[in-house]
Amino acid sequence: MAKILVTGGAGYIGSHTCVELLNANHSVVVVDNLSNSSEEALFRVQQLTGKSLDFVQGDIRDSTLLDQVFAQYSIDAVIHFAGLKAVGESQQIPLAYFDNNIAGSISLVKAMERAGVFKLVFSSSATVYDEANTSPLNEDMPTGMPSNNYGYTKLIVEQMLEKLAIADTRWSIALLRYFNPVGAHQSGQIGEDPQGIPNNLMPYVTQVAVGRRQKLSIFGDDYDTIDGTGVRDYIHVVDLANAHLCALNNRLNAVGCRAWNIGTGNGSSVLQVKDTFEQVNGVAIAFEFAPRRLGDVATSFADNQRALDELGWVPRYTLEDMLKDSWNWQKQNPQGYSN
Ligand code: NAD
Ligand code: UFG
Repeated sequence: MAKILVTGGAGYIGSHTCVELLNANHSVVVVDNLSNSSEEALFRVQQLTGKSLDFVQGDIRDSTLLDQVFAQYSIDAVIHFAGLKAVGESQQIPLAYFDNNIAGSISLVKAMERAGVFKLVFSSSATVYDEANTSPLNEDMPTGMPSNNYGYTKLIVEQMLEKLAIADTRWSIALLRYFNPVGAHQSGQIGEDPQGIPNNLMPYVTQVAVGRRQKLSIFGDDYDTIDGTGVRDYIHVVDLANAHLCALNNRLNAVGCRAWNIGTGNGSSVLQVKDTFEQVNGVAIAFEFAPRRLGDVATSFADNQRALDELGWVPRYTLEDMLKDSWNWQKQNPQGYSN
């Protein structure tokens, strides 16, 4: 079993991945600066699994700290989640995004190189695809210039890692292009806990359901989709977490850099999500239609065949499961980790 460094492991996707890693008997070291998360998530990960992990509070841009971590622990591979992810904020404070996401990733891979660790799984995003592509999106389609600075940082880091793996064949890198992660661990003990007003659909819906927000604004009702609202590929966070274990496994005996889409391959509209949430959970979601959100595309869903074929990964959870689990987390933790 391997020793895995998980950057950003206290966050939403990171904490779920820690659970799956520990359940698979890997040992886990988390480096997180807690800028968008709580250490409580890591306590709960350990409670859920009955296993312990090592936590180092710190920033991936701190190379001294990273050197200490690599010196102290005999790390086999790194899963790199740490970064900022709010699309709107990235337009207001681009330098913070360039520094955290791009300089942070450079700092990490330099420390990995110094330590002789060359296996890396990177959190990328479907946002790197050129908007002119038609869904289902596959990995051979061209990437484009993302409409926001957050997406731009993902594209730059992807390209940087690709060039690194060409220049130095010791590297073995997986780029996982996530579609729309939602849901929570079935226990309801860990889940998504955004700070402030949620940017994303699912936490907004669950916060309306729990009474923290009055009503959902549905951004656009005139897209060329099944019902006029935007279509996305929602993926259960536990399925997504497991994709990281499959990617690690794939990279054990491989070199080079390769991208995989991580989505279910199914598109659901905003109205379908809202209606299904109401049906499976028996809770009404007040809503209104609002103008389209700048930068949104009508439809985005994955062709996930490459991940199915090459990673041996199979998503198990349905949209109903995702919506039940999101609600189970939110109703048990109305204020997230700050209960
Ligand atoms: P999150 O904010 O919950 O987790 C990110 C974690 O990284 C947080 O715990 C935060 O405290 C930590 N962090 C941020 N900057 C850091 C730094 N410089 N040093 C150390 N720790 C730092 O976000 P998430 O939803 O779990 O996303 C994880 C990764 O997946 C991110 O890279 C994100 O961009 C990417 N991603 C997320 C989505 C999504 O919709 N959630 C979609 C595509 C890609
Ligand atoms: N939406 C609403 N109301 C809201 C929030 C969202 O109607 O309050 C709609 C959006 O317009 C879109 C859909 O719900 O049609 C999904 O929106 P999200 O913000 O949840 O997700 P996005 O698809 O916009 O963005 C996600 C990630 C990004 C990533 C992108 C790449 O949050 O990190 O996917 O596909 F870059």
